[in-house]
Amino acid sequence: MSDETSTAPPKHLETLHCRICGTEVAAGPVHVCEMCFGPLEVHYPLEALRGRLTWEVIRGRPTDLWRYRELLPLEGGPTLARGVGWTPLLPAPRLGAELGIDDLWVKADLSNHPTQSFKDRVVAVALNRAREFGLEDVGCASTGNLANAVAAQAAAGGFRAWIFIPKDLEPEKIIATAVHGVRVVRVNGVYDDVNRLCAEVADRFPWGIVNVNLRAYYSEGSKTVAFEMAEQLDGAVPANIVVPMAGGSLITKIGKGFRELGALGLVDPGRQPRLFGAQASGCAPIIGALERGEKRVEPVRPDTIARSLAIGNPADGPFALQAIRESGGWGAGVSDDEIREGIRLLATLEGIFTETAGGVTVAAAARLAAEGRFKDSEGATVLCITGNGLKTPEVARSTYELGEVIEPRLQEVERLAEAGLGLGA
Ligand SMILES: Cc1ncc(COP(=O)(O)O)c(C=O)c1O
Ligand SMILES: [Zn+2]
Repeated sequence: MSDETSTAPPKHLETLHCRICGTEVAAGPVHVCEMCFGPLEVHYPLEALRGRLTWEVIRGRPTDLWRYRELLPLEGGPTLARGVGWTPLLPAPRLGAELGIDDLWVKADLSNHPTQSFKDRVVAVALNRAREFGLEDVGCASTGNLANAVAAQAAAGGFRAWIFIPKDLEPEKIIATAVHGVRVVRVNGVYDDVNRLCAEVADRFPWGIVNVNLRAYYSEGSKTVAFEMAEQLDGAVPANIVVPMAGGSLITKIGKGFRELGALGLVDPGRQPRLFGAQASGCAPIIGALERGEKRVEPVRPDTIARSLAIGNPADGPFALQAIRESGGWGAGVSDDEIREGIRLLATLEGIFTETAGGVTVAAAARLAAEGRFKDSEGATVLCITGNGLKTPEVARSTYELGEVIEPRLQEVERLAEAGLGLGA
């Protein structure tokens, strides 16, 4: 991993930039801008990288997210989290025919290493940066997938980990966190209560809470979804991308990722994807603001089966709104029944079993397609399927029937065959 990486810490990583007032603050585990409490962001020397970071250089590197390391906020090469990212981009013709979407693709982040969601990407970046800062304790406030990712990667990296979750999270997500030997702290409240607590924890203890005081670094990991899509489409920019939203960071950073690729000349800078946000109608603060034409995101109290997206007061809500509007995209809020149907369609037509967040994405795409929102575009439409169905199996129970148990006799099968398949197919 040492080819063009210089040994001196890169100058651009000495500071973070406030996204509201532009103030620069010294790099570190800092939460917000001291002047205006705005969120912080990393800037890159894109001009200097132009012509140096080419697809040819990138293609010669190992197939994980570190192949884009100049666009990630690490001072040195990664010391942890190899093998994260580089998930398949799959054509989805059967789902496309069903939904009436031409040239439909699935970005299959449900098969990410090591915990089967796109959160493995953001945690890979955050924990490498935590190590560079000399932090020994890390943690997160989580709706489930982030908990899994921090727990697994903290275990592998030898960090102590403090995982804060709402007490009623799905059992599978609690098991897949606690198994890594981390401290799971269940909080009597919804995610937004957990997150507020973690902001206080980050002030009180010398810990790196990945989505609080490491958020500026953590969130950069999401850009690699955009980088991979462009590389997997041979440098083409998708026309439309449908992205599930909770805190609103992923969709914002997919937009930033394509802008950086444009600035580097790796994709046509005149062409940006239209970004379409997806939320459950039981927790749709960003979609609500989008539909009302407002810049402010009014917090809501979540009530949906899509627990992984149940953030009522999204930290990056205004930026997500801005990214959607500037791209010419739109969004949809979908009901719990539509989410289950989305899971069923993806599973039965493309063989991909997603968790509720993926059901939200498919259902939103169905709605947007029915409204004709993808019609006047040329190029691929990509659905971000960001989490794995094995983590929320209960939700899928109502999508199929098992039928009777039979005796081990051929006549029994003959009887079934005569009746036809007819099992919820
Ligand atoms: C599976 C899955 N998809 C999408 C998201 C949304 O990501 P963001 O909070 O960056 O909007 C989450 C967030 O927890 C998630 O768990
Ligand atoms: Zn500021």
